[in-house]
Parts: sequence; structure tokens; C-alpha cells
Amino acid sequence: MKLVLCGKGGSGKSTVAALLAKSLAENGSPVLVVDTDESNFGLHRQLGLDLPQDFTGYYGGKQAVMQRIMEAAPDYGSVSFFEEAWGLADLPASYISEKDGVILVAIGKIHEAGEGCACPMGMLARQFIGNLTLNPGETVIIDTEAGIEHFGRGIEENADAVLMLIDPSFESLRLSEKVLEMARSMDKPVYFILNKVDETSEPLMRENIKEGDRIAAVIPTDADLMGAGLRGEEIATDLSEIRLLGRRLIEDLG
Ligand SMILES: Nc1ncnc2c1ncn2[C@@H]1O[C@H](COP(=O)(O)OP(=O)(O)OP(=O)(O)O)[C@@H](O)[C@H]1O
Ligand SMILES: [Mg+2]
Repeated sequence: MKLVLCGKGGSGKSTVAALLAKSLAENGSPVLVVDTDESNFGLHRQLGLDLPQDFTGYYGGKQAVMQRIMEAAPDYGSVSFFEEAWGLADLPASYISEKDGVILVAIGKIHEAGEGCACPMGMLARQFIGNLTLNPGETVIIDTEAGIEHFGRGIEENADAVLMLIDPSFESLRLSEKVLEMARSMDKPVYFILNKVDETSEPLMRENIKEGDRIAAVIPTDADLMGAGLRGEEIATDLSEIRLLGRRLIEDLG
């Protein structure tokens, strides 16, 4: 199954991506985490992995990817980066980090001021995810940047489900409605994950969320998660809520 995590900035996308990847990998099948966030550098640390070199490098770097797209003008969509289907075993070794059944690919980061827009990364990410052919039991978890630009880039097009992180804020609730609307237009199932909740915020959130039956996990504010996040350390927390979420997703999506 291919899962996209989305939500507002700081809602816990990368944290849940790491928690879920580690939990699902314990089942014995590999889990690929695709880091499509160009700005943040925390996910590999949460996974306890080195940051692999930008996957755009496989195609000569961001500028070369951009050039290939521009050369196809005006038919930008016709550029194809993959001639053959790739499985998880085909990922080029120098562009991955790997540990305990979790593999990480980072599509591309912004390293310098003025290096141009992130469009090449978006297009490459969409095709990379769409091209991946999975064996039964394998999972792809796609961590995205804050907001909904990735919907515009079509990242969700090739996913089986959208996992929407909702923290206790008006912006998260509002965004959850927008995400529902967009996912529905693409015929993608949406699962809500309430994060950073306590006994005061959880009932309030449930009262205010539209389509509350989509809530598939409720993750409390956790001191260990907060500490690991603050220090940029690997997440070692084992949450029953995440194990249950993993089981539910496998049951629903295979
Ligand atoms: N349940 C939780 N309890 C305590 N702290 C949490 C919890 N979930 C996430 N955090 C902390 O909140 C911060 C933001 O989390 P995270 O980086 O996962 O969010 P994000 O949605 O990926 O953010 P961004 O949009 O910037 O990529 C981190 O410091 C993380 O450790
Ligand atoms: Mg993040």
C-alpha cells in the first residue's frame, strides 16, 4: 500500500511517518519512506538514518531534471523519468539509507538560496511513487511538506490513501475539510489522525471535526516524542495507537 501523510506545519506528519514505518517494518516486509519535503531535515533523524543524497542526483541533479522538463515545452507532462517499473529492490543503493527494514529516499532538498522552484522535485516525486511496483505486504509512506501544495503536484494521484494529521488548532480542522474535498475528487480514502491531544482537546476536536468516523488514531501529547523531536534524535517510542493504525490500514488497503 502507498500512503501519503498530510497536514499543517508541525502537526506531526514526519513523526507519524517515522512511527508508522518502524511499526510496519516489524511485520517483516520492507517499508519505504519517501521524503518529499524540500525544506525540512528532520525525518531521517527521526528514523535513525543518514540523509541519503537527493534522488534528483540520479538524473543529474535538480537543474538537469528541470532542463528535461523544460525541453518538453509546452507538453511538460510528457516527460517520463522511468522506462521500466521499479520495485523496492531496484532502488539505487547510493540514493537510499536503510535500517531494520525501513528504507529512506529523499527526493530533493533546497540547499541554497535562489536555486529555483521545487517543480522538478514535485514531478519526479509523482512519477517515482507512481512507478513503484510493490510486492504483497510492502508499504510506501510518503511524508509531505506542510499544507496542500502536494495535491496540486499530483502526489496523491498514485497513493492508495491519505492520512491527514490533525492537531488541536482551527487551521488543522479547516485543512481537514479541504483535504477531504480534494481527496474525494480523486477517489482516495482519507483517514484522520488526531495528534498532540489531551483529555481537554480530544472531545473538543471530535465535536468540531466533520466526518469524525474517519478518525483512525488518536495520539496523545507524549513527552518522549517531544524530547526526541526537540533533540533531533531517533524516535524510540512504541505506541499502541500506531500499531492499531497499521493493522487497520493493512486490513483496509492490503
Ligand atoms: N504526539 C506528540 N507528542 C509530543 N510531541 C510531538 C507529537 N507529535 C509530534 N510532536 C513534535 O512536534 C514537532 C513537529 O512534529 P513533526 O516534525 O512530525 O511535524 P510535521 O507535520 O512533520 O512538521 P512540518 O510541517 O514542519 O514538516 C516535533 O518536534 C515533534 O517531536
Ligand atoms: Mg515534517
